[in-house]
Amino acid sequence: MAATCVIGLQWGDEAKGKIVDLLTEQHDIVVRYQGGANAGHTVVREGQTFKLSLVPSGIFRPDVQCVIAGGVVLNPASLLCEIESLVKRGIKVEKNLMLSDRAHVIFPWHFEEDRLLDKQCTSGEAIGTTMRGIGPCYRDKVGRSLAVRLGDMYRPEFRSRIELITQAKNETFHALGAAEDRLDAQKIFDQYHEYAERLRPHVADTTAYLLDAVEADKRVLFEGAQGALLDIDHGTFPFVTSSNSSGVGVSSGSGVPARHLSKVIGIVKAYCTRVGGGPFPTEQDNPTGHHIRERGHEYGTITKRPRRCGWFDAVAARYTARLSGVDVLAVMLLDVLSELPELKICTAYELDSRRVTDFPSHVDDLRRVQPVYETLPGWQEEISSVRQLAALPQNARRYLDRLSQLLGRPVEVVSVGPDREQTILV
Ligand code: GDP
Ligand code: IMO
Ligand code: MG
Repeated sequence: MAATCVIGLQWGDEAKGKIVDLLTEQHDIVVRYQGGANAGHTVVREGQTFKLSLVPSGIFRPDVQCVIAGGVVLNPASLLCEIESLVKRGIKVEKNLMLSDRAHVIFPWHFEEDRLLDKQCTSGEAIGTTMRGIGPCYRDKVGRSLAVRLGDMYRPEFRSRIELITQAKNETFHALGAAEDRLDAQKIFDQYHEYAERLRPHVADTTAYLLDAVEADKRVLFEGAQGALLDIDHGTFPFVTSSNSSGVGVSSGSGVPARHLSKVIGIVKAYCTRVGGGPFPTEQDNPTGHHIRERGHEYGTITKRPRRCGWFDAVAARYTARLSGVDVLAVMLLDVLSELPELKICTAYELDSRRVTDFPSHVDDLRRVQPVYETLPGWQEEISSVRQLAALPQNARRYLDRLSQLLGRPVEVVSVGPDREQTILV
């Protein structure tokens, strides 16, 4: 068995893209299996920066097969754009990118719904979605009657299906106050028919392909999108994304049973960030948070929104490491913490005068917790050119040891800069 999973253990943007790119050379296949163009994964190679959204971060090795599996929600326009920009930069995107015919397709109505419905979150605070139509598309998938999968676009009924759905969606928009029909079935059909033709060479039954691959002991790498705290079932609901972004989503999204997964790598930043709404117990909306944001360039890869920044939350990360079955950790962006005089790690929460170490299941409780911090000394040295663990300042090693101890997992990788060279293998 040689299937490895890369899972973000926080609220996304843990630098999963960098790790997937690094690990790709040891794998035959790289698979994206959930989420959609809400993801923004950065890969820096030989000084060039690539931002990927739907295409797996394994695409830079032409001999590796990349797969977008059935659990992904696929926006054809954004995928075609991404492919085009990669090809322009000399990256091969041909049969080495395979798309599942089971993947659900994002349509213009999903964007409209995302815009209209995000404000209506139960607690009065908006989720702050990426506005990429992700939640509405997953909602239609679960609702079934108004859903379209990639494979449906090649069937003779596709046109009549678009007409039916457009009519139903226009009625909904009228009910929500729209004065006129927002969606034109003919226009949408023509556009999506063209997308379908352009994507045709990539479309396949990826479930059968991946099952054959794992049974033949091919080396498969699963690339998680978002982070486990955004998991629809196990995250900080309702301030989550609409897929299983923790380790539990690998099997449902790809069709590969969990028994084939041999190693789960949990990716954490050396601190925490979050984009969008929702509770964030260790948030530092103060000069420390500001310092981290500027040093770490913590602005959304796709939406450019400033990311909220805070201290490392070991209660949350221990929970998601357990939930995702994490074997080893990769601690990213350690260099960003250089120069801070002291560092804090949240080791427990106070909730109603009780000390808790289990991550609260209800968002209202999570809002009320007070983090219990442990303070560790910082280091002043620049560490971005360090390549050996032993060469890190003693306080940086001490910090890593403490994270490892609190999460109960060894640290296998430490990242000290965006470039693939700026990596310490422990
Ligand atoms: P992903 O969504 O998990 O793939 O992460 P993003 O790409 O959205 O965000 C991670 C950001 O951190 C990107 O801009 C990376 O280039 C950058 N990055 C990755 N590793 C490091 C690191 O060790 N240090 C610094 N300073 N930046 C890093
Ligand atoms: P990567 O893969 C960080 C957040 C959004 C919002 C919530 C729901 O780059 O780590 P959605 O558009 O999914 O319905 O938005 O989830 N979110 C992310 N935050 N990184 C991501 O992806 C994210 N994808 C979604 O900001 O709070
Ligand atoms: Mg990202």
